[in-house]
Amino acid sequence: MLLHKSPCQPPAMAHHQHGAHAIPSQRVKLHHRGKRNSLMSVPQAAAQEASPQTSSPQPQQHTLGAACRKDFPILHQDVNSRPLVYLDNAATSQKPHHVLNALQTYYSHNNSNVHRGVHALSARATTDYEAAREKVARFINAASHREVVYTRNASEAINLVAYSWGMANLKPGDEIISSVGEHHSSLVPWQLVAAKTGAVIKHVTLTQDTQELDMKHYKELLTPRTKVVCLVHVSNMLGAVLDTDYVVEEAHKVGAKVLLDCCQSVPHMPVDVQALGADWVVASGHKMCGPTGIGFLWGREEVLMGMDPWMGGGEMIQDVFLDHSTFAPPPARFEAGTPAIGEAIGLGAAVEYLQGLGMENVHAYEKELGK
Ligand SMILES: Cc1ncc(COP(=O)(O)O)c(C=O)c1O
Repeated sequence: MLLHKSPCQPPAMAHHQHGAHAIPSQRVKLHHRGKRNSLMSVPQAAAQEASPQTSSPQPQQHTLGAACRKDFPILHQDVNSRPLVYLDNAATSQKPHHVLNALQTYYSHNNSNVHRGVHALSARATTDYEAAREKVARFINAASHREVVYTRNASEAINLVAYSWGMANLKPGDEIISSVGEHHSSLVPWQLVAAKTGAVIKHVTLTQDTQELDMKHYKELLTPRTKVVCLVHVSNMLGAVLDTDYVVEEAHKVGAKVLLDCCQSVPHMPVDVQALGADWVVASGHKMCGPTGIGFLWGREEVLMGMDPWMGGGEMIQDVFLDHSTFAPPPARFEAGTPAIGEAIGLGAAVEYLQGLGMENVHAYEKELGK
């Protein structure tokens, strides 16, 4: 199947275009890495050219956007002689002072490795790093902080599941359910693992009229051979919101696991992982006002407990012998080597910031913008 990068505009949530989806009927290649600039929105392209300047007077509307504009230092510049308006949040969001200050504080006062030093700085860094995990867990209503695994981004989180769980559980003839509306990051890891295991990927189509996932087709594809369903919660292309209740219930009926790609829901609406009922949820910190280089995998504790390590290194071990090792319980089992400490702390600050705005308010405001 060939892929297509559609230039269509996203509807409600200023969703970006760089995550292409597969359109089986069009034999066009969607991913043109070299042509990315031609797809940039004007503000994004302008932002690249601009150098910081003194800000022009800002619009004085009483909206959530106007109220929080002051929190984002990058917006306080003119681009092409006009106050910068940034609409490419689905690709990556800007960072508020609260997050920048958290990074500054960590690197200026507490920089140290975590979980391995006996000195004061290491103790502070470890406390803040683990406190950030607690903040993320509360933000998504995880049952425990042990269910939150730090990753570099959502892509790494999906790869973690595909390689750790997929390589151990998929065999020839098993089926993976994806859709034609997935981001590359949730499509390609399963392609790689399917090629290694002999599993087959089936793609749910979209409805003609609303471009939502075709639930009739989804139900037809589910069989006892289905082992995992990996679908986007809110589409970065179309803004369509998945009927997660139906998807999860039907998948679990046939014994399949469910991974939800929540990259575009976690920053834009309240997300409660226990209510979603899936087995795994992934998101990227940089799309939710946090730093780059940090994201997370949420997994139900018993599911994570049953998964083998994906990458080996320091921190993820219990005991090391010359010829073998034993492994720490999750989440440490999946966090090999020195993690992105400052970035995880920055992510904690980002969820504090979003909680301060109120995710219900964010969602309501974005729906208003989309009208
Ligand atoms: C729906 C969706 N899934 C996954 C990703 C991948 O995110 P990242 O590149 O941060 O891993 C994106 C990024 O645009 C996305 O929009």
